[in-house]
Amino acid sequence: MAKITASVYTSHVPAIGAALDLGKTQEPYWQPVFQGYDFGKQWLKDNKPDVIFLVFNDHATAFSLEMIPTFAIGTAAEYTPADEGWGPRPVPKVIGHPELAAHIAQSVIQQDFDLTIVNKMDVDHGLTVPLSLMCGQPEAWPCPVIPFAVNVVQYPVPSGRRCFELGKAIRKAVESFDKPLNVQIWGTGGMSHQLQGPRAGLINKEFDNMFLDRLISDPEGLASVPHIDYVREAGSEGIELVMWLIARGAMSDVAGGPAPTVKNRFYHVPASNTAVGHLILENN
Ligand code: DHB
Ligand code: FE
Repeated sequence: MAKITASVYTSHVPAIGAALDLGKTQEPYWQPVFQGYDFGKQWLKDNKPDVIFLVFNDHATAFSLEMIPTFAIGTAAEYTPADEGWGPRPVPKVIGHPELAAHIAQSVIQQDFDLTIVNKMDVDHGLTVPLSLMCGQPEAWPCPVIPFAVNVVQYPVPSGRRCFELGKAIRKAVESFDKPLNVQIWGTGGMSHQLQGPRAGLINKEFDNMFLDRLISDPEGLASVPHIDYVREAGSEGIELVMWLIARGAMSDVAGGPAPTVKNRFYHVPASNTAVGHLILENN
């Protein structure tokens, strides 16, 4: 049986990818951001999974605004880093896990979540920047990755509650796979940021830290926060945080197991227009 052993949470910001790719990680502006991931990089080496189930959002890159699935699972053998306007990032291609992905699609759809099946997709900064933050600049990513895209760009977006329930279904799906795989689930995006309109530049440290606190110790309650509260408190792009609830819903305490161990917690403002948050939770 496959098992989810840990969840990792991290923001994504295109400028973080650019800083890494252009050799700027030691510049005073970026050094504290990357330093916040030193622990995580070592932890990932020490706790290398067989597969990463990576919950992220596409930014009108692969799907454009012509077709917008609410939830989409990548079942392909590989994924190419997307060209977001400056050429594709110089990062390894992403190797998928079609067998586990197809099993999860089967199981989750039979648990009544409508997933879009994606057999071809270029992956943008939403997926590659979290991998870069946790892995640095390797020749190849450490393991296969199943990309799971969530629409948080074009309204209406899914609620935190639905995301949390989906996480529970993903845990059941993984645990019903008949090979002994060590799977990590990553929830990415957020934290507070707004890129548009009169409130562009909005950051809310209080909300973000409340979110981190409750994600750890009251995920069920946090899941009932309505979408309008994210927009009001964390900015229009702060809604990316609902993706963290998918990863949290897949942890074993939610299904009655013991509470997870907090291996790392990091928060830093700013990176570009965004508050960077990062958590690692291990199942017990
Ligand atoms: C920024 C943050 C994002 O989440 C994103 O998708 C694009 C830009 C930023 O802070 O610049
Ligand atoms: Fe984003």
